[in-house]
Amino acid sequence: TLCLDASFPNPNKFMQLSEENAFKAMRGTWQPVANAVDLPKGKVIGYKLLETELVVARFDDGALLAADVACPHKGARLSAGCIRDGELMCAYHGWRFDASGACQSIPSLVAPNPDKLALSHLHSYPVKERYGYIWVKLDASSPHELPEVPEFEDPRWTYKMGPPMVFGSGWRREVENYLDMTHFAFAHASTLGKCADPKIPEMDIQVHPDGFQMDAPFPALTTPHEQPGKLQSAHHRMQRCFLPNFTTIRQSFTDGDERVLVHIPSPNTQESCTVFWSVAISPDFRGPPPDSQIEFAIRVLDEDRQMCELQIPREVPINPARGGWGVLVTPGDTLANTFQKTLRQWLTGRTPQ
Ligand code: FES
Ligand code: CO
Repeated sequence: TLCLDASFPNPNKFMQLSEENAFKAMRGTWQPVANAVDLPKGKVIGYKLLETELVVARFDDGALLAADVACPHKGARLSAGCIRDGELMCAYHGWRFDASGACQSIPSLVAPNPDKLALSHLHSYPVKERYGYIWVKLDASSPHELPEVPEFEDPRWTYKMGPPMVFGSGWRREVENYLDMTHFAFAHASTLGKCADPKIPEMDIQVHPDGFQMDAPFPALTTPHEQPGKLQSAHHRMQRCFLPNFTTIRQSFTDGDERVLVHIPSPNTQESCTVFWSVAISPDFRGPPPDSQIEFAIRVLDEDRQMCELQIPREVPINPARGGWGVLVTPGDTLANTFQKTLRQWLTGRTPQ
């Protein structure tokens, strides 16, 4: 069953649907830019989020900074800089900035000049750490909040971060791939198993104010990776998409074990994204050990990457008039259609005119 009556915040039926507006709307959402473990104290990195080149740094006291990457002096990328004496130092002429982005020193000045320092403030963005990721929101005025996923913060569960993977395709391609249950037998023939049934059980789809959810009885796949006990235990699959791009899959096994996977394709450009992903495993899980689950998932994700990069165009068109819709007619495409429909509703309610 599918109900599309839910009205997303501030619906505006006159909003024009365009790639440009879709891009603008994404600027108002929290997006991951790094696994937190990859940004320890004293580390400086670069990341391209929605065509915006960022420097992201963690200072010695733990404070985080995300700012436009170009140094206000001569435009050198601050991602090539370092943390020196508790400040971010540009690699070129050594200008220094604190965690608020304020310029604290210009070594070539004979005497400190407050006016010059004030002019040299970095343009910074909201940044925070949660669920093992560093998140940035480019449009600070947006009210967007991260969804609540209790399993990711429950100390009794085992929470494992996957290595982020770059896809040469738009972020909507990755979400659709993640929602797709009929490609296993083909795209994942060497991992999830070529015996996987491309016919899918009846799905129960619910639309919520922040996205949608799909429940279906879904048998364990015939993968050599699954333990024999798991093979027999048919499981239940719940997929949740928090719009626009925070997706989870919850697998419940008949022996009581549960596993929650999260995928967030963080948009680098219109046609590329970095997939941040992690796995939460219920206490005393009787399946394969967590590290081997991650190793296996890397192989599966790489197969998904190849399929996403095969697709033309590189991004799913946001506007149905531009193609991409109408040819999706199999039951397996129902979830992708739900994603497109709800995403359009989300966009028309959120994107400024
Ligand atoms: Fe950064 Fe000169 S370009 S200090
Ligand atoms: Co796949």
